[in-house]
Parts: sequence; structure tokens; C-alpha cells
Amino acid sequence: MAYLMGIDLGTSGTKTVLFDTDGTIVASALREYPLYQPKPGWAEQEPLDWYHAVVDSIREIIWKNGIDADAVKGVGISGQMHGLVMIDKDGVELGRSIIWCDQRTGEECQEITDRIGAQRLIEITANPAITGFTASKILWVQKYLPKIYEKAAKLLLPKDYIRYKLTGEFATEVSDASGMQLLDISNRCWSDEMLKRLDIDKALLAPVFESCEVTGKITRQAAELTGLREGTPVVGGAGDQAAGAVGNGVVEPGIVSSTIGTSGVVFASSNEIKIDPLGRVHTFCHAVPGMWHVMGVTQGAGLSLKWFRDQFCHSELETAGLMETDPYILMDQEAGARPAGCGGLLYLPYLMGERTPHLDPDARGGFFGLTAAHTKADMLRAVMEGVAYSLRDCMEIISEMGIPISQVRASGGGGKSRLWRQMQADMFLQDIYTVHSPEGPALGVALLAGVGCGTYRSVQEACHHVIAIKDKLSPNQQDAAVYQRYYPIYQQLYPALKPFFQKMKQ
Ligand code: XUL
Repeated sequence: MAYLMGIDLGTSGTKTVLFDTDGTIVASALREYPLYQPKPGWAEQEPLDWYHAVVDSIREIIWKNGIDADAVKGVGISGQMHGLVMIDKDGVELGRSIIWCDQRTGEECQEITDRIGAQRLIEITANPAITGFTASKILWVQKYLPKIYEKAAKLLLPKDYIRYKLTGEFATEVSDASGMQLLDISNRCWSDEMLKRLDIDKALLAPVFESCEVTGKITRQAAELTGLREGTPVVGGAGDQAAGAVGNGVVEPGIVSSTIGTSGVVFASSNEIKIDPLGRVHTFCHAVPGMWHVMGVTQGAGLSLKWFRDQFCHSELETAGLMETDPYILMDQEAGARPAGCGGLLYLPYLMGERTPHLDPDARGGFFGLTAAHTKADMLRAVMEGVAYSLRDCMEIISEMGIPISQVRASGGGGKSRLWRQMQADMFLQDIYTVHSPEGPALGVALLAGVGCGTYRSVQEACHHVIAIKDKLSPNQQDAAVYQRYYPIYQQLYPALKPFFQKMKQ
């Protein structure tokens, strides 16, 4: 038997999954960890929490399931993107990581644009300066924590820190490195021009590989801790969105994914670089050699529903506990019992600012249209609809860019909800498909590991071998008509509120 392991280092937790070479799940384990928000708009995590979650989840898989470690042919890591992990010359973590959804770096983004020039920035990095991306976080640390910056020997992305802990090697790969905003996206290598103008020493960065290349091997110490065999190859892996795309077979033009995790992402791959001149969607290197991708990002997708659950759904949480079921299933039933459009109640999902289409770290969330007749269930449904409207914003831009959308595949935690998928079908006026494996990012990087260690000849071949369509939902014309009516109102709310977001800034 031959197995491939995928580690999905997410924001709420790490899920490690062992697959056989047909993509069947053999075992999986999850470990959660906290997110720290010391100030509004700030978001941090402890790198060591990630590492412990990775070690514990691998150990659970190997030892609890009696897996023969020799059968694990390769490991891939998928990571929440953009986070900044700094380690000193002895490999010791220099404080918490400022992660992807942190919005503190508005001024540094302006500084990056001023230093590079808006046009040149897009030419090199294919994106405007964005608070979520790593470059602005590096500038923030240079400015506000100079003593820490001085001690930094390496600046790593979250999954590349885990790679270092498991293999002792410094390496990154093109898909995640794209989100640092220091990569020359056309040439898939660090941009000397960006580094020079931002005063970042290239030696602080890890060498860049293609996502399916082997970048290191499990060390003896990591083998002792995890139960993996010493010497097991670890491939480049990918940023979570590119990894999820591979795990959903989004590796050819026309196939698009719509993912609801903590963030929400519409992702399309392309054989050439396509850039939105207004910078509303990101253009990055794909985890497939020779391919790029564009993606629109809703900052607060699953995050919005989790926020609503934690603030207002205590009885659902309690009942779910007693029934040993998932509270989201109960919440889905409540939302599903309310009519589409929630009687004119709209929700703006900007709890952590917004990227697509507004690119505004100061944007705030809100409900619009509340009346005394509305119930908690309407508000719950409105949250789900608001996220779906925001994903439609992403779809619109991608299609405006002339990128073909022939098949949409839903994925992520939110993709498990039939109701949320139906909302997407109704809003996008598109059939929404799912694939058999629900483990998008973990499967994606396991497939990359399979390519790296010779199980498959290419990423496309791996996807054809493993990924199959499970089901399809078509638009419901009646509900679609309701959403068509409310969408233009949803679209006009942000511009109307924008001046107030600025005034609310703390
Ligand atoms: C992508 C992005 C998120 C994070 C966390 O640009 O910021 O998808 O990777 O999931």
C-alpha cells in the first residue's frame, strides 16, 4: 500500500489527512488553536501552536491507526497564506505571526505603492499593495518593531515555517510566495527590484520552488515526534487556495471553484497571466507548473457565520452538543426555513475589511433593512446570503476579465451546506458542482506530493485520476429572481457607506 499525506494548516485549526493513491481518505486528525485579536482589525497566531497541531495530528494518524510509516511516500503542506513568521538565527520564533486577515498595514501599503509606483507594482507582483499580503506586514515590523526585525534571520510563510520544523530546510513555492508581494509573478522568482526598494535582504527569504518539487526530507527529530519515517520527502505544497483548487481539480481553464472557508474565494486558473487593472482580484502563480490563477477574496465568509454562531446561537450550540451533531447543521435548517431575500434584509460581510471588489481594510460589516418583523433566523439567512452576494461580486469581475467560467465547483466548510450551495447557484445563475473528496487543500497537497515522488506524472494527471464530480445543483428560478432584485441594492450599499467607514476608523 502507498499513501500520501496532506497537512492543511488553516486559521481555525490544522487538519492532517492520509490518502491512498486513488485519493481515498485513510485517516484524518484535526487540532484547533486560537486566533488573537489584540486590537480591532489585528489578527495574530502563535507559530508554535501550529507546529504542535501539526505534530499531534500526524502522530494521531500514524500511531492511532497503526499506519506503516514506510508506506507514506510523500508529504505536502497547504498553508493559510500571507502570514509573517520571523525566526532568529537559532530557529527560535520571534513572537506571534501577523496573519492574512490582519488589517493594520493600510499606511504601509501606501508606502509600498509610493516607493514602487502603482503601475510598476502591478507589472511585477500582478497586484496592488494589499494589507493582507506579507510585504506590508514586513514594513510594519521594520517600522514598529525594529529590534525584533534586526534579530530576524528568516521571514517565512506559515506553512514554510512548518516545513522548516519538519525538514530543517528553508524553502517556499510559487503559489504561496506570490502572496508575499515580493515575487516576480511572470518569472516565478523573487523580484530583486521589489526587495531593493523595500529594503528587504534577499537572504531573509527562502528559495522558491515549484509546488510539486521535493524541498526537503523529514528529519530524525521530526520522525521521532510524529511517527513518520526519517527521510520521507516533503514537497513545496501550496497556499491554501491553490491547494484547494488542485484538490477540486481546478487545474484547467473553464473550471472555477467557489470556496467558503474562513475567507471566501472564487478561483480560476489560466495558462497565461491575466491581471485586473483595478486590482480587485489577485493574480498569483498556480501550484501547477506553467499556470497562473486569479482569485477574488471575501475576507469574512465562514468567519461571518462563525461570528454569528458564537454571538447569537448559544442554544444551537448547546442542542448540537446534546445531539452530538454539528451546530451548523441546525443553523442551516433554521436559515433554510426562511424565504430567499429574508424579506428585504441584507448583510454586508465586511467584518475584517474587504478585498474583492472594494479593497478596503476599513470597511465594516452590517445588516441593512431590519424591521420589527425580522427574526434571528432571518438574520442568520441574511449572513449566508451576504457572503454569497460577495462571492457573486468576485464571479462578476472574473467574467468581466474574459476568463471562461464553464463549471463552478463549490468547496470548503461552507460548500458542505446544500443551502449555501443552492444560494450560490441562484445568485451566480450557474449549476454548482461538488467533487467527491471534501478535503480540498489537504488532498491538493497530497496530490502534489504524489507528483513530487513520482506516483503521478503531472498535477493534471493526478487530478484526472483522483477527482470526480459528486453532485450538481441547478438554479431555482424563483429564488434567483429575488436575488436578482436585491443584488443591485447590495452593490450600492458599500459606496453609500464608504465615507462613514473612514470616519469610524480608530
Ligand atoms: C488568500 C487568503 C486566505 C488565507 C486563509 O489570499 O488570504 O485564503 O489564505 O485561508
